[in-house]
Amino acid sequence: MKGLKYTAFLAFIFALAGKALGEDMLQLANQKGCLACHQIDKKVVGPAWLDVSKKYTEKDIPQLVNSVLNGSMGKWGQVPMPANKGIVTEEEAKKLVTWIISLKNQQTKQQKK
Ligand code: HEC
Repeated sequence: MKGLKYTAFLAFIFALAGKALGEDMLQLANQKGCLACHQIDKKVVGPAWLDVSKKYTEKDIPQLVNSVLNGSMGKWGQVPMPANKGIVTEEEAKKLVTWIISLKNQQTKQQKK
């Protein structure tokens, strides 16, 4: 129950901060070279982040942070993601992953408008 409330609270904060936070995060993703392989809503070298957002939930954040830091393969196709350790800190990876996971909520919000 407590966890659920916390998640709802976070979702609320994201809804409020959504736009500003999104712009910050996009800038960070760009600086870190993530956007060379990822786009929000289109598969490029890596999966569309919106698809990543739909496949996982908040509880998968630690696993995804691990994918970003140490690389990942075989989950989305034949192309592996190289490790980004040394490019992003664990804290940055967590911020990015948390934002990526929240993308599906922002889309739902936009569709409701
Ligand atoms: C060289 C290209 C490349 C770069 C740079 C890259 N990615 Fe990826 N990313 C991929 C590919 C390819 C996959 C799919 C891997 C797989 O199939 O397991 C992926 C998968 C992911 C996933 C899903 C992982 C999972 O476990 O399902 C996340 C989240 C992600 N990337 C975030 C990031 C972030 C954040 C950055 C920047 C710090 C980044 N990526 C940089 C190519 C890249």
